[in-house]
Amino acid sequence: MAQYTRASGFVGLITLQNPPVNALSAVVRQAIVDTVKIALSDPKVKSVVICGQNGNFCGGADIKEFGGEMTGPPLIPMIHAIEAANKPMVAAIEGNALGGGLELALGCHYRIAHSKARLGLPEVTLGLLPAAGGSQRLPRLIGVPDALDLITTGRIVTAAEALRLGIVDQVTEHNTVDAAVKFALSVAGQPLDARRISTFPCPRPPDSDALFEEAMRKVRGSARGAMAPVACVQAVRAAATLPYERGMEREKELMATLFTSGQARALQYVFFAQRAVGRWSMPSGAGWDTSKPRPVNKAAVIGLGTMGRGITVALAQTGLSVVAIETQEKQLMEAKQAVTSMLERGAKRRGAAPALDRISYSRNIQAVADVDLVIEAVFEDMALKLEVFRQLSAFCKPGTLLCTNTSALDVDELARGTPNPELVVGMHFFAPAHVMKLLEVVYGKRSSPQAVATAMQLGKKMGKASVAVGNCRGFVGNRMLRLYVEQAFFLLEEGATPELVDGALEEFGFPMGVFRMSDLSGLDVGWRTRKAAGQAQPGEASGQSARIRNGSRYSPIGDLVCEQGRFGQKTGRGWYQYDKPGSRVARSDPWLHSFLEQYRARHGLVARSIDRQEVLERCLYALVNEGFRILEDGIAAGPEDIDVIYVFGYGWPGHRGGPMFYASTVGLPKVLERLEHYHQAHPDVPDLQPCGLLRRLVASGSPPVHRWREVIKKLHSQL
Ligand code: NAI
Repeated sequence: MAQYTRASGFVGLITLQNPPVNALSAVVRQAIVDTVKIALSDPKVKSVVICGQNGNFCGGADIKEFGGEMTGPPLIPMIHAIEAANKPMVAAIEGNALGGGLELALGCHYRIAHSKARLGLPEVTLGLLPAAGGSQRLPRLIGVPDALDLITTGRIVTAAEALRLGIVDQVTEHNTVDAAVKFALSVAGQPLDARRISTFPCPRPPDSDALFEEAMRKVRGSARGAMAPVACVQAVRAAATLPYERGMEREKELMATLFTSGQARALQYVFFAQRAVGRWSMPSGAGWDTSKPRPVNKAAVIGLGTMGRGITVALAQTGLSVVAIETQEKQLMEAKQAVTSMLERGAKRRGAAPALDRISYSRNIQAVADVDLVIEAVFEDMALKLEVFRQLSAFCKPGTLLCTNTSALDVDELARGTPNPELVVGMHFFAPAHVMKLLEVVYGKRSSPQAVATAMQLGKKMGKASVAVGNCRGFVGNRMLRLYVEQAFFLLEEGATPELVDGALEEFGFPMGVFRMSDLSGLDVGWRTRKAAGQAQPGEASGQSARIRNGSRYSPIGDLVCEQGRFGQKTGRGWYQYDKPGSRVARSDPWLHSFLEQYRARHGLVARSIDRQEVLERCLYALVNEGFRILEDGIAAGPEDIDVIYVFGYGWPGHRGGPMFYASTVGLPKVLERLEHYHQAHPDVPDLQPCGLLRRLVASGSPPVHRWREVIKKLHSQL
């Protein structure tokens, strides 16, 4: 609802009240309509201030209402009535003014923001566009280039940037409502014609056609196949080229297409999935609602390689004191420089001071003595990690949480090597750790709920999508990825090329296909793991046995490419060729194609024609199948956990909602049928055998994805 009071005698004060974010639900919209009417009809009221309770202006539309029948007054006429008012309407923006919240503020004649406020139109991230006039008013207010940037990316800006862009008229450090009331009194009685944004001509840069073409090219390139960013460009173009009313009609048409699209449903699912993963639980029943995190003010990072550097930056930017430890002098010096420049770049972007003095560097592990939490990021070597954990147990104060950033090693084995296994959890970051939004928090058999709660809370503070998962080889993300990559290798053996496989996956929406990605991250990484696991063997054994490991099909293609010193971009050669080592533009490599032909000839494999559909089915359904196994094993609590991991850590296109959501949209019976088909065709690949949980879900009528948790719970209780 909205409360109506009078401030300073002459100002009508409307306070939105709908915790937690004052979303514009039907009741709130009705209350705004009613209170605006009261304020405008009261002759004593000279001007009006709209604010939100509890220091938060308005988080936008109530997403929960999206699925159902529209009730209550619609937003567009409500905002029009505010703009058309004959008394100054002032938005007092504290906290967030997002989506419909900012559109409401744009309907006001003036906007006063607190210095800590955040403003933006993030609709595109939900597969939509700002359709309550936002796409038409913002370009008229701040010009086409900046409006395109904000609307097509959903980027949220600080009050300082909003002032610079001209979105707000004033920024205050003090009480925003008081400042807005004072301001409202100062403009009472002044003419309002020049304040109604919908009447502004849209400033049109001379080269606007080229600008829109460039914007379209950019969104098509970055959000492969996503409809909303394209519609956002079209809506802004309408603002620039059409009168306001016609622009509003276009905004409505474009929104109607998006609103009913599967993409918006998928992105909204991801939005709610992010919330769902915050309500984590462990098999013991302990979870987010019963476990209290411990305070963490000071942390240590051990090992300042690729990951340790990013983790140090992420921790310092979150406001923690960090002790950064590295044994190698040269590495330490390089890390110091790299961390400093990452912090400086980040601070410049945010317009803040870099948090350099929060970090102290040391070569001595004893510097961990007073930290609350340690994140270990040394080489992926169990013996080394066990030794580091033994030292940490000796030097840390009692109760210090010991976290490992291992990609796949056994968290229980590490915990067993310490006197307090309950303090050990995995905190699996993704590279670059200060940028990537995903964190897998891995609980072992003995991890205490408090340790998990602390890691989850720290992840949240760092702005990560944090997902609690059980302990198994590769956890959730890497365990599923292995099967996806393996299918891509098999497809090469059967006749595909890296270009075909990558093309299909990129068309599906991944920013990079398997092989381009492998060239970027380095082929040697996987090779080292396969050698350590005894899979990759030097030289190529002849005959069938070269392609079999432990009774299952194995492709040594990746190992053979590595034996040629082709590690990807860093060596200028991998699955593709590059102009020089370190260059990023991949070109087809005839050497690789003839290598594949010779390989097939040696193994008596006859290349067949493979289409993009098969590439997608083989790679994606193998991955999805492993996702079902992970659910069956209780490693992830629900499909939302897997989907958040894939969208935020593995480049799965958000508009397809994550692998498990995608499987539900394809239809579980179809996924099952295709897996059965491919398993029959490739009986030497046991991983293609459909998982029992998938069969059960199909047998129980393929319930929608939000009901899988129930089915899984029932399944586990029967075991
Ligand atoms: P890296 O090789 O870049 O860095 C490891 C660093 O640890 C080196 O600087 C080394 O000198 C240092 N180190 C070794 N022993 C040490 C000790 N006893 N005390 C202090 N420092 C020591 O390795 P990277 O890539 O950063 O990986 C670290 C860990 O993170 C591994 O467990 C890896 O599996 C995991 N990981 C790696 C990801 C990646 O994309 N690189 C992603 C997620 C996890």
